[in-house]
Amino acid sequence: MKISLLSIILVIILCIRDTICGRLFGEGFIPTNYYENQQQVQQREVIKAAIQKLNNAPEWVSNWPNPNTKLGQVSGLALDNDGRLLVFHRVNNVWDETTFNERNVYNFIGTPAIKEPTILVLNDTGEVVDEWGQDLFFMPHGITVDKEDNVWVTDVAMHQVLKFSPNNREKPALVLGSKFIPGEDDTHFCKPSAVAVLPNGDFFVADGYCNHRIVKFSKDGNIILQWGTSHGSTNFRFNVPHALTLAEDRGLVCVADRERGRVACFRHDNGSYVSSYSNWLIGGRIFSVAYAPVHGGRLYVVNGPTGAVPVRGYVIDFESGRLIQTFSPDDGLRNPHDIVVTPDGVSVYVAELSPFKVHKFMDETLRNESLSIEKTHVKPTATVEVVGGAAGAGGGGAWEWWSGAAGGAGGAAAAALLALAALALLRARNTGRKVATRRRWEYGHGEFKLRRLLERRRFTRVHSDDSDEEPAPMLPHTSPANA
Ligand SMILES: *[C@@H]1O[C@H](CO)[C@@H](O)[C@H](O)[C@H]1NC(C)=O
Ligand SMILES: *[C@@H]1O[C@H](CO)[C@@H](O)[C@H](O)[C@H]1NC(C)=O
Ligand SMILES: *[C@@H]1O[C@H](CO)[C@@H](O)[C@H](O)[C@H]1NC(C)=O
Repeated sequence: MKISLLSIILVIILCIRDTICGRLFGEGFIPTNYYENQQQVQQREVIKAAIQKLNNAPEWVSNWPNPNTKLGQVSGLALDNDGRLLVFHRVNNVWDETTFNERNVYNFIGTPAIKEPTILVLNDTGEVVDEWGQDLFFMPHGITVDKEDNVWVTDVAMHQVLKFSPNNREKPALVLGSKFIPGEDDTHFCKPSAVAVLPNGDFFVADGYCNHRIVKFSKDGNIILQWGTSHGSTNFRFNVPHALTLAEDRGLVCVADRERGRVACFRHDNGSYVSSYSNWLIGGRIFSVAYAPVHGGRLYVVNGPTGAVPVRGYVIDFESGRLIQTFSPDDGLRNPHDIVVTPDGVSVYVAELSPFKVHKFMDETLRNESLSIEKTHVKPTATVEVVGGAAGAGGGGAWEWWSGAAGGAGGAAAAALLALAALALLRARNTGRKVATRRRWEYGHGEFKLRRLLERRRFTRVHSDDSDEEPAPMLPHTSPANA
């Protein structure tokens, strides 16, 4: 009995691995609406209605940047102190399932670094006014600029964080991590994703795809503090801490905890947990976050392809945790990877991994905001603090958001809403399982297909451009210090 079951499973696995069989069950064979049932049609309607209730802002700026700007996968964005945009891109390099081996080591050590400039500097009108970063990087990821105009980047292939001073763009002034050697200690990172620098020069590194920690360094590169863990239902659990932003007026550093679909904020002096943000409409993946101290503080986020929710930009009121705005280019977002906002909130920029794009959005109503004393008061709800695992985040978010934004909706809407909360809860639970599935199947090509098939069955609307996303995180190692 057991043996026959095993062999059936084996046959199925072999069958799916095989290309002929794969074609039978493969993506081309399944009608697009095959798994769509009544529930999902309803869900789509609810999503559409929820988006329409939000303010559509900031507004997309068409034809920006100059269409002659040549880009590869755009992984990171930063604003310098003159308000110019730094675009960190991978030119012809692409991160896919062949990029790293199963021990997270870059598979192309020995090939030369990217020969073309990986950092483009764009001015307000979208013209390239400077470019550099050639012969230095292999797989660009995060970028930021500090108050002294030092540029900080992470390269996931090198497992390093590099700092470049304004007067030398060829040799880094500071290098952290060991080149091409992944690890998790004081001298090693594993695919570090982002850096954030405090005004006093102390800085944070999000580490990263295979580790689960935020590390705080002093200006000269010594570790002061670190926190994060790979497991448990705690606010310190990370599943790909993917981007960082500082809310300096609040003394916080906020993390886009990508695969948990949340933004988590911590005190930047001692790493104490303060608040989390998630929402059913944003879904289970948040790729990046930026903060602007306008209207009492706003978080700008981009989500990633997952489930039924659309990929968009969202603005969250920091105090109440409510979604207040949503934005998207006219032809939509597919794989947004990073977001930055000017301190006045007027200009927002979004990087896309694929298609290779940078978008600009503007909110002119905020232009004179810093001069005005009047503040819009948003009544706080309980969304800000989300305790517990992802399930709580999804379900709770659904309820809270609606109780605020639905306003005068009738009883029918309330009933639909309850159903939706249950759905979100279910989905969030599934997300947990999905991660486990991913880990088992992420190695190699054939297995990749099976993973996608499994996900497709469970989640119905898996985007066909799934392969363009960066691979899911590798297996967790030992838990880091200071959980
Ligand atoms: C941006 O650079 C272009 C080319 O150098 C220049 O023509 C344009 O005026 C600049 N725009 C701004 C806002 O400085
Ligand atoms: C961090 O500082 C705050 C304020 O002093 C304090 O309440 C909190 O307990 C501290 N957390 C840790 C982990 O030391
Ligand atoms: C902002 O202030 C400037 C100068 O006071 C004024 O000319 C402009 O119309 C204002 N813009 C908005 C959007 O209120």
